[in-house]
Amino acid sequence: MSERSGTLADDRFGGRHPTSHERLTGLPWDASYHDGPAPWDIGRPQPAAVRVASRGGFAGAVLDAGCGTGENTLHVASLELSVLGVDVAETALAIARQKADDRGIEVEFAAADALQLERLGRKFQAVLDCGLFHTFDGDERRGYVASLASVTERDGTLYVLCFSDDGPDTGPHPVSQEELRAAFNARSGWDIAAIEADRLQTRYHDDGAPAWLATIRRL
Ligand SMILES: C[S@@+](CC[C@H](N)C(=O)[O-])C[C@H]1O[C@@H](n2cnc3c(N)ncnc32)[C@H](O)[C@@H]1O
Repeated sequence: MSERSGTLADDRFGGRHPTSHERLTGLPWDASYHDGPAPWDIGRPQPAAVRVASRGGFAGAVLDAGCGTGENTLHVASLELSVLGVDVAETALAIARQKADDRGIEVEFAAADALQLERLGRKFQAVLDCGLFHTFDGDERRGYVASLASVTERDGTLYVLCFSDDGPDTGPHPVSQEELRAAFNARSGWDIAAIEADRLQTRYHDDGAPAWLATIRRL
C-alpha cells in the first residue's frame, strides 16, 4: 500500500499513484480529454499567462507544469523561448503536439508527474502553473512545492494561477492567500513577491472565475 494514496497504483494511472483529484473522481486525468474539450480547455492561452509573457516574465528555459492541451506552452514557445510542457494526460499531450505541428511551432511536450519533477533532471528559469496547484490537497501540495523547487533555478520565478476563494462564483478547489503563503515560504525555499487578484477563464464562466496570480521567487 502506498503511504501517499493508501491505494495500490493501478494501470489506469500509468503506474502512478492517483492524485487526490483522481481518487475523488475515480478517473485518471486523461479521461477529462476523451469527450471533447475539458471545462478549463478554452482553446487559447489564459489572458493572465499572456500578460505575464508580455511584461517579460518568462526568460531562459521555461516549464509549464500540467500543460493540458498546451495553449499556454505554445504561446510561450511562439515568443521564441525554450519551453517544456509536461502533463500526466497522454491524450492532452497528443492534442498539444498536433497543435504545435499545425501551427508550425517548435516546442517540447513530455509525459511527467509534476509531483516528481526531479526525474526530469533539468532546471528552469521560469515555471508556469496554470490550474494545477489548486487540484492538489494539503499533503500533495507539500510534495508538489518541493518538486517545483527541485527544478527551478535559484532566483527563478514561478507563476501560479489558481482559483481564489475571494468573490462570487468561485471555481472548484478555491485557494486562499493564506494557503498560498503556507505552501510557498522561506522554509520550503520560496519567497512570494506578489499575489494579485485575477481571473481564470473557463468554458462555463462568461468572464472567468476569481483567481490569484502568485509570483513566487525561488530562494
Ligand atoms: C485544470 S487542468 C489545466 C491545464 C492547462 N494548464 C490549461 O490551462 O489548460 C490541470 C492539468 O494538470 C494535469 N495534471 C494533474 N495532475 C498532474 C500531475 N501530477 N502531473 C502532471 N500533470 C498533472 C491534468 O492532466 C490537467 O491537464
